[in-house]
Amino acid sequence: MNKELKKQIQKEYQKRFGIRHFIPGKTSIQASGKDFDWQEMVAMTEAVLDGWWTEGRFADEFEKKFAKFVGVPYCITTTSGSSANLLAISALTSYHLGDRRLKPGDEVITLAAGFPTTVNPLILHRLVPVFVDIDIETCNASIEELKKAISKKTKAIFLPHHLGNTFNIDAVKSLCKKHKLWLVEDCCDALGSTYKGKQVGSFGDLSTFSFYAGHHMTMGEGGAVMAHDPLLASITRSFRDWGREYWFKTGEDSRRDKGLGALDKSKLPADYDHKFIFSEIGFNLKITDIQAALGLVQLGKVAAFTKRRHENFAYYQKSLKKFERFFVLPKATPKADPSWFGFLLTLKDDCPFTRKELIEYLHRHNIVTRMFLAGNVINQPYFQSYAIDYRVSGKLLHTDHVMRGSFWVGCYQAIDKSRREYIVKVLSNFFAAYNM
Ligand SMILES: Cc1ncc(COP(=O)(O)O)c(C=O)c1O
Repeated sequence: MNKELKKQIQKEYQKRFGIRHFIPGKTSIQASGKDFDWQEMVAMTEAVLDGWWTEGRFADEFEKKFAKFVGVPYCITTTSGSSANLLAISALTSYHLGDRRLKPGDEVITLAAGFPTTVNPLILHRLVPVFVDIDIETCNASIEELKKAISKKTKAIFLPHHLGNTFNIDAVKSLCKKHKLWLVEDCCDALGSTYKGKQVGSFGDLSTFSFYAGHHMTMGEGGAVMAHDPLLASITRSFRDWGREYWFKTGEDSRRDKGLGALDKSKLPADYDHKFIFSEIGFNLKITDIQAALGLVQLGKVAAFTKRRHENFAYYQKSLKKFERFFVLPKATPKADPSWFGFLLTLKDDCPFTRKELIEYLHRHNIVTRMFLAGNVINQPYFQSYAIDYRVSGKLLHTDHVMRGSFWVGCYQAIDKSRREYIVKVLSNFFAAYNM
C-alpha cells in the first residue's frame, strides 16, 4: 500500500476514534466490545485493494497462525461461533465416520446454562441434548452431574468454557476416554484461556471459537473450528464449502486425485466437474479475506488483551471480596488460567436488594451489564414453542440460580485502570447502604 494512503488512514482513524478521555459517570463503560487502532483499518484496506475479497491469502495465513496459537494442526475459519458449532456437530454426523457418526436419537451431554447456539445444532440434527447442572462458583459443568448423566445412548460431550473459565478438562477427558465419547469444546467465550498451560481448544476432538465484535478478539463477525484429525478437518471443511467432495481453494479450477471418499458416485457422469460433486449436506459458511486481514492484526494483540483481562479480573476479585455476603463470587477452575470474558456476580437468595435494583443503579451510572447468556435455555420461548426432544439429568438448581440472580460487568481490554476503579467505586457506593 502506498505511504500516502496509509498515512491518510492513520489520520482518519485518529479523527474518528482517537484517544477519548474517560469522564466518570459520563462515559459509558461497555461490558464487552472491540478494541482496535489504525493497523486493523490498514490491513482491511490491503484486503480490499487485493480485489479478491472471498477467502484468499489472508484467510490462509490466519488459519495457519491461529492453528499454531491454539496448538492444533487444523483450523477451519467460518462466519461465526454459531456457524462453528453447527459445523462441528454436522461433521460428527458424517457417514464418513462409519460407526462413530452421531445419529438421530443419540444423546449429547451439554449445559442448559449457556448460549442457545451451543444447543441448537444438536436439535437441528435430531440429537438429544442432555442437560446437566453447573457448579455455582465456576459456572461450568458439574463433574458429579456429568457422570450421572451418561447413558447407553450418550455419544458425545459438548461443553462451553463459560465466561473464559475452563471446565474441568482432565475429568471430562477421562470420562470421554472411558465411555468412548466425542469431546467438543465451545471456546467462543474463552480465547486465550489455558488449562495446565495449554490453550483451550486444544483438548477436544473438535473445538470452536467466535470472533464476534464482543469477544476476546474480533473479525467483526467470524469463527473457527479446530481439529486434530485430518479426516474430521476435511469433513468440517466440506460442510463449510457447500458439502464438496473435493476441496478447492477459492478460484482454483482443476481435477483432484483425492476427495473425502464419497460412498456412491455411480450416478455421476464420469467427466463430471470435481468442483460440482457434493458428498455432504453442506452450507456455505466461509469468511471473506477482509475479515481474515482484520483477524490477523487482532491475533497479534491477543497476548496484550489477555493481560488486561487478567488484571481487571484480579482487581474486581480483590476489591469485591468484602461484599461476599451478598454474592457468590467467580472462581477459576483448578489448573485453569482463564482469560476472563466478564466478572460474574451472582446474588445470594437472601440478598437484601434485587438484581434489578442493582443493575438499574449501574446503568444510571453509565456502566453496562450483561446477564449470564440465555440463563437456563429451557426457559427460553423457543423451547416452549417447538417440540424439542431433550433430557434433563438431575436438577438444574444452579442453572436456575444464575438465570434469576447473576449478571456481569466487563473485563475486556478497553476497560483500563480508571474505568475498573470507577466500576468498583459505584458498586461499593450501592452496597454501603446495606453493609451495616
Ligand atoms: C458460549 C457461546 N457459544 C457460541 C456463541 C456464538 O458465537 P457467535 O456470536 O460468533 O455466533 C456465543 C455467543 O456469544 C457464546 O457465548
